[in-house]
Amino acid sequence: ATTVKTEVKKTSLTEERINAVLKEAYEKFKNDQGGKNADYIKALAEVDSKIFGITLVTPDGKVYEIGDTKAEVSIQSISKVFTAALVIQEKGEKFLQEKIGVNATGLAFNSIIAIELHDGSASNPFVNAGAIQSTSWVEAKDSKERWAKIYGNMDAFAGKKLNFNEVVYDSEVNDNKRNQAISKILDAYGRMGSDPLEATTVYTKQCSVNISSHDLGVMGATFANHGVNPVTGKKVIDSKYVSKILAVMATAGLYDNAGDWLYLTGTPAKSGVGGGILAVVPGKMGIGVVSPPLDKFGNSVRGQKAAAYIIDKLGINPL
Ligand code: DON
Repeated sequence: ATTVKTEVKKTSLTEERINAVLKEAYEKFKNDQGGKNADYIKALAEVDSKIFGITLVTPDGKVYEIGDTKAEVSIQSISKVFTAALVIQEKGEKFLQEKIGVNATGLAFNSIIAIELHDGSASNPFVNAGAIQSTSWVEAKDSKERWAKIYGNMDAFAGKKLNFNEVVYDSEVNDNKRNQAISKILDAYGRMGSDPLEATTVYTKQCSVNISSHDLGVMGATFANHGVNPVTGKKVIDSKYVSKILAVMATAGLYDNAGDWLYLTGTPAKSGVGGGILAVVPGKMGIGVVSPPLDKFGNSVRGQKAAAYIIDKLGINPL
């Protein structure tokens, strides 16, 4: 008989080990010149490309961080996670799956052809189409109330009042014709819950909320802690829905790079064109990274590298 030896990776997450790995990741990637700031939203091209902050928060609320962890950028597509969380909380998991979808598109985040190829379905809540749709389905009597709920929900995940980036909003709201077109197509397919242009404006607002790597770390830790914010102790989403939102993050959080990312890290994550990345290791930690330069898919270059390095070195790939 043959004996099979299995090599078990050490996963002792001591404070010293976590701090050492964060420092290594920071030093290793801080001078990485890869990628460039988004410029299709003009204000994003002006953001300091050198910003680099990494924050890791555990379910007991301990914070480990390094670099520009207070520097704020607009949350952009990472906001889609929290609005989808609000929709699943209000309308249930069948609604999210059937009305919006939970599959990857295999196409860019702002693809219009993806909608046509899937019989009018957005495919998932993390591409622009599905996100504008999610926004439209948040229960509210009017646009003002819808926006207040969406903003308040992000605040609850972050455990603080998040700032609003007027400069980014002004730059995007007058230049979001493509998203307006997407909302109109979805409306033609009978998939919108409110007026399409109103929903697009609220969606643009939610993308203009500012976050730091610190904020993303806490928001991620709220998912890692089964829906309870570890800093405030407040429950913000039912634990039974956390795995659903994380599943969609694994499928479509990094768009066309989602497969490569999952293969590398085994970890649900979501990116935004402001340069933020949020990764969640269920039960273990939230990782937030901010660094504006993006790859061709719209994902932060240093954000992905730093988060992947940390997950590997700490031996916490959940798969
Ligand atoms: O609607 C847009 O195009 C932006 N407000 C958000 C896109 C985004 O962040 C895609 N993510 N990587």
